[in-house]
Amino acid sequence: MKTLSNKRIPLIFTLIGGTVMLMSFVTNTTIQQKGAWVAPASADTIKNPLKGKADAIAAGKKIYGTYCNVCHGDKGRGDGIAAAGLNPKPADHTSAKFQAQSDGAIYWKLTTGRAPMASYEKTLTLVQRWQVVNYMRTLKAAK
Ligand code: HEC
Repeated sequence: MKTLSNKRIPLIFTLIGGTVMLMSFVTNTTIQQKGAWVAPASADTIKNPLKGKADAIAAGKKIYGTYCNVCHGDKGRGDGIAAAGLNPKPADHTSAKFQAQSDGAIYWKLTTGRAPMASYEKTLTLVQRWQVVNYMRTLKAAK
């Protein structure tokens, strides 16, 4: 049976050390990502092309009921059927804090996504994403 030569032992420690460092880097990056989700300031300048339009709100409601309610809940309170197992929890779209941000910031977030929420850039068209933003604006009244 071969035994490890003394020369190889430092190499093994270097490999273990490197792996530990890499793992802590990955963990830190994940934790950092879970702080408050803030859209870049540039998102605030994106204009809402369908602002307050009734047909856009109605179309957005259907999209929300198809793609978003599983996590965010039917009334947008963040209590959908898949919510319990998620970390972080789905946002409450009826909260004053959520509603205080600009239309552009909301649009940017659902376009970009952040785990465990997907990006909707490919799933929804630009018009559909604005429809759902305008629907989300009505959720504060529905509380
Ligand atoms: C798989 C579950 C899931 C689905 C489906 C989902 N979301 Fe989310 N959503 C989340 C989670 C979790 C967060 C919180 C993410 C965070 O804070 O990092 C979130 C956050 C958001 C935010 C940002 C909230 C804030 O506080 O600013 C918006 C906007 C949003 N979702 C819109 C939508 C829309 C619109 C849809 C449907 C097209 C949707 N989401 C579908 C899980 C989901």
